Amino acid sequence: MINLIIEDREGHRAPVEIPEGISLSLMEVLKASEYEVLATCGGMALCATCHVQVVEGPDQFFIPNDTELDMLDTLPDAGSDSRLACQIQISEDMDGMVFRLL
Ligand code: FES
Repeated sequence: MINLIIEDREGHRAPVEIPEGISLSLMEVLKASEYEVLATCGGMALCATCHVQVVEGPDQFFIPNDTELDMLDTLPDAGSDSRLACQIQISEDMDGMVFRLL
């Protein structure tokens, strides 16, 4: 299992367990876990409603891709630890990571 910690918008942290080997984005996992993520663009990096902050994790997960960066640049509350959850593919390297919903 891949274990993540998700901090919701009220500051409550809860574990989310994901089976290894699944092909889902973090956005899809958050929606499946009933977090309030609108994802109105369906994962195309166009709506920014899946904006998350990487709180803890390996360095490579702090680096947005180019499409994602274009969208993050338009957000007033984006920081160097911002990502779009739809652009993060779940992988075993993510075990133990902490994300905050924005
Ligand atoms: S779901 Fe729209 S930007 Fe991620």
